[in-house]
Amino acid sequence: MRDRADEWVLGWDDFDPSQEGLRETLCTTGNGYFATRGAAPEAVADAVHYPGTYAAGIFNRLASTVEGRALEHESLVNLPNWLPLTFRVEGGPWFRLADVEVERYRQQLDLRNGVLTRRIAVRDRSRRRTVIVQRRFTSMDEPHLAALETVIEAVDWSGTVDVRSGLDGGVANGGVRRYQGLGNRHLGAIRTGRWADDGVELSARTTQSEITIAVAARTRLGEGRGSIERFRRLVPGRAHVTEEIVCELRRGATLVVEKTVALYTSRDAGISEPRLAARRAVATAGTFARLLRAHSERWRDLWRDWHLRLERHVDVDLRLNLHVVHLLQAVSEHTGDLDAGVPARGLHGEAYRGHVFWDELFVLPTLNFNMPHVASTLLRYRHRRLPEARRAALEAGHAGAMFPWQSGSDGREESQTWHLNPRSGHWTPDRSHRQRHVGLAVAYGAWQQFQTTGDVDVLSRFGAELILEVARFWASIARYDASRDRYVICGIMGPDEYHDAYPDDRGPGVDNNAYTNVMAAWVLCRALDVLDRLPAARRHALRQQLGLTEAELRRWQRISRRLFVPFHEDGIISQFEGYESLDELDWEAYRARYGDIQRLDRILEAEGDTPNRYKASKQADVLMLFYLLSADQLAELFARLGYRFEYRTIPDNIAYYARRTSHGSTLSRLVHSWVLARGDRPGSWPLFVEALGADVADAQGGTTSEGIHLGAMAGTVDLVQRCYLGLEVRDDVLWLNPRLPDELDVLETTIRYRGHWRIGVRVEGQRLRLNVPSGDSAPFRLGFDRRIETVGPGDTFEGHLRRHPHGDVARVGRLHRPMS
Ligand code: BGC
Repeated sequence: MRDRADEWVLGWDDFDPSQEGLRETLCTTGNGYFATRGAAPEAVADAVHYPGTYAAGIFNRLASTVEGRALEHESLVNLPNWLPLTFRVEGGPWFRLADVEVERYRQQLDLRNGVLTRRIAVRDRSRRRTVIVQRRFTSMDEPHLAALETVIEAVDWSGTVDVRSGLDGGVANGGVRRYQGLGNRHLGAIRTGRWADDGVELSARTTQSEITIAVAARTRLGEGRGSIERFRRLVPGRAHVTEEIVCELRRGATLVVEKTVALYTSRDAGISEPRLAARRAVATAGTFARLLRAHSERWRDLWRDWHLRLERHVDVDLRLNLHVVHLLQAVSEHTGDLDAGVPARGLHGEAYRGHVFWDELFVLPTLNFNMPHVASTLLRYRHRRLPEARRAALEAGHAGAMFPWQSGSDGREESQTWHLNPRSGHWTPDRSHRQRHVGLAVAYGAWQQFQTTGDVDVLSRFGAELILEVARFWASIARYDASRDRYVICGIMGPDEYHDAYPDDRGPGVDNNAYTNVMAAWVLCRALDVLDRLPAARRHALRQQLGLTEAELRRWQRISRRLFVPFHEDGIISQFEGYESLDELDWEAYRARYGDIQRLDRILEAEGDTPNRYKASKQADVLMLFYLLSADQLAELFARLGYRFEYRTIPDNIAYYARRTSHGSTLSRLVHSWVLARGDRPGSWPLFVEALGADVADAQGGTTSEGIHLGAMAGTVDLVQRCYLGLEVRDDVLWLNPRLPDELDVLETTIRYRGHWRIGVRVEGQRLRLNVPSGDSAPFRLGFDRRIETVGPGDTFEGHLRRHPHGDVARVGRLHRPMS
């Protein structure tokens, strides 16, 4: 049996330049305010390394010209690099891995504490042996601080050591190769200097958004044995600032260098200006050990909220822990005041330019069940951008709010209009902005938030308006087709990005994407529910404010009953109208010819063909319906729409689309695994394990070095909690209907629900146990096997599951009340 500690350590015992980009992403340390890739402190951006630091919501626009076309892009800005730290012995070359003989190497991310460590034993060109141990973290306790400790041991030599510690503002956004033809210098007005005897500072301003970023560093010698600081000198540069600290080190002794930095920007609340704030923060920061202690304590607390354990599956636990770590490093309570959304690639790299897509659909549900306050700050990002979404709808001739497919600082559409296919080198038009379904994800998140928290206040202030305005948009884009006596939605794209037009290219987009139409009906229903749930005064005020008339509500009612959903002749839900008559792709031939065909779109384009011709999907589209809605909810919706929906057709739909999906998005395997877990369990686990490897195993062959896939990371955590436990909130009842895959004996987790923190849920074999900690929150209704119990603080509920060919089903449970 392996040491249980394994599930908390992601590590490597070698330095492999070809893997460094991937490891830098996986070893990113962050806190939801800012994050820094796990790049070596002595490295600069080159073919192997890519130091990158990003702060939530710090964007800048740049204009570029590509093949004669003027383009403008907004990007999450790579901020000044605070890491630079290296040393040299006796005036020799500055330490770089490439220049020394590496005798031992170990790099690891301690997931429990969010600490990255490197231990290296080297022999330099003069045959001196040195051991270097570096630890660093980005403080979860003080979101503006990060610290790096370097311990240098002179194994068999004595001599002068020069330590170089600096800040580098000469960075660019150069982390994604296919963006390299585009403008990438976002920082200007760089100022550098010394702010204290033991510290330097650097400030810069983004060229267009005019955000000032200030970093102050303090470099001190810690309590090493046998090292003496002789003097320091400042090496100023145009875009960087460096201090050199000259020390003496005796044979067998250690030199400890502690570098502490503070990062502030002009978007921060509660400061006068960033330079002053950074100086003050770093001047009063404690030692490395003290900062680390506070940081670890915060992580300890977070792990109590995010307890998740699958017994006997250390590797799975490790990956789930890693996913929780990166989720919380990308979005946390420190994201709160920043007015930032859910960045699809985390704060871990530059892919997709840090933009916000529909991926919150995969992130908010798990936040809602574990940290609902963070989910609500992310919803506010959308709420603040309602005016922009309304403008976009209006410009497109619609009403309500049309959220953009890609969103950055101000919520306008940031999707690129041209896309470089790295395989062919061609720039082709990018029509992905036709994915109007992003608003459905926003509304889904807002509704879920309300369901799990029961918080009418948040619903009143943000959620309701979001849901109503999204519903209004769908009611407005839907057009009545008298020939069918149904409403149709035309010229859009579904989540499957392979189909942006019909093969004959008549007009952009496709018609009646089933996912979009069914979810449009869903959001119209929820909008009507929301109005019922608001306190009368707020309902009245909101209706007035939005000009929501009775006639409009009646129209919503009607559309929610008459939206068109396409089906194939054999009853399969059609991805969109006309999908059935597309050609079948010869999957085997493509697999044989290309091996990895995840990005079939690029392969086909390079062949002069287009995926628009084929029944081939990049990712789950129709299946998203089974992912988001339970079979009961779907049955209800279809019945409302006047379509026959039979439960037994779910596996047929899954099988049909599974055969025609290339999983070109990391979200796809997650969704397929989820829907199979409720239908055909044996097929689910392998896909779940693959989804867990999306980043650790770099399943997309190189994309993780450009940033994590936050949706897949959060989604796998959510899958274990919501899907395996069968957690669903319906009509104010928290339903539990566990269905563990055969591979799992024990699943243990905590959830937060309606003010109850850390409700423990454990499923072991056929037994389920739910424990509500003591507290003051009001009892809630728990549903299990068609029965509803009211459970409150201190209660334990025990249930028994019965194995069934299609999965476990809930059986009668018992409630234990604490003796009063
Ligand atoms: C996927 C989208 C996703 C985006 C950002 C794309 O590859 O197809 O569904 O929103 O990545 O993660």
